[in-house]
Amino acid sequence: MERKLKHVAVPASEITPKELYFSRRDWLKAMGIVSAAALLAACAPRVGQTPLETAAGRGSGPAPTDELGDPANTFEQITNYNNYYEFSTDKQAVNPLSANFRASPWAVEVGGLVHKPKTYALEDLLRFEQVERVYRLRCVEAWSMVIPWTGFELNRLLAEVEPMTSARYVRFTALLDPQQFPGQRSPFYPWPYTEGLRLDEAMHRLTLIATGLYGEPLPNPNGAPLRLVVPWKYGFKSIKAIVRIELTEEQPATLWNTIAPNEYGFYSNVNPEVDHPRWSQRTERRIGELGRRETLMFNGYGEEVAGLYAGMDLRVNY
Ligand code: MTE
Repeated sequence: MERKLKHVAVPASEITPKELYFSRRDWLKAMGIVSAAALLAACAPRVGQTPLETAAGRGSGPAPTDELGDPANTFEQITNYNNYYEFSTDKQAVNPLSANFRASPWAVEVGGLVHKPKTYALEDLLRFEQVERVYRLRCVEAWSMVIPWTGFELNRLLAEVEPMTSARYVRFTALLDPQQFPGQRSPFYPWPYTEGLRLDEAMHRLTLIATGLYGEPLPNPNGAPLRLVVPWKYGFKSIKAIVRIELTEEQPATLWNTIAPNEYGFYSNVNPEVDHPRWSQRTERRIGELGRRETLMFNGYGEEVAGLYAGMDLRVNY
């Protein structure tokens, strides 16, 4: 039975101001995602539409809210306070440093333990049904935002490449390009940035490959042109600028887990009960707010995802 949520999704075409809706349409068309007819169909209410889908309109008009009723952060907040170590460890420096990043052309190699490995151009990936999802993003550093993403469910892509029965994990690799990424000239980190999920986590319907936010193509500071979004895990799992997706039998090494395994576990599910060795994870600062909020187990997505971890000790598998 579908869980009843406070938030009721509204198709973007009904509440997004016309100018914004049309600029989004132009973007989708320019990206070659859909014909006009398919676009109209995509905006019509659908049976089985996830309750987390909602309208995203930047600027005037009602602010998008998450299913708990909290408003999305502004476009300015979302694009000016970023963790993107390939550019800088200074969150406010990422936006100006990423201004000339070349996010096009772009290709993603999908391979490993799959029957149909394929290299996808960005345009190919934009042909998967694009949905709008307003998700909370909780950084391991104990700040959070609410972000209206556009993207597609990763399970669509994985189904197309046909995982072998031996595949148990998914490994993601970000672009290695020290010419464009000043941070990669520092030998301190084992570049490129890598991340990983268990295959069932990757197949979960909440797991997105984001291609946009606020109805616009994904901005450079947020990982253009493609980044992972796993809303029940700490933000560092949501790897930006993905160029390779591989299915593996063994749990893949990841950048943060390699550098500091006692601080950043492979799972990294948001969990107020398990402190970071250097700070508490009980509360968080929502960007734009003064006080602190209680951190929610699985970042508030427990009803959807807790079953993935049934029988596991989440203190051991942090
Ligand atoms: N992906 C890459 N390639 N490089 C990074 O430094 N930082 C991670 C994650 N993805 C990071 C990355 C961290 S720590 C967080 S909290 C989120 O991106 C931040 O996403 P945002 O800047 O879009 O809010």
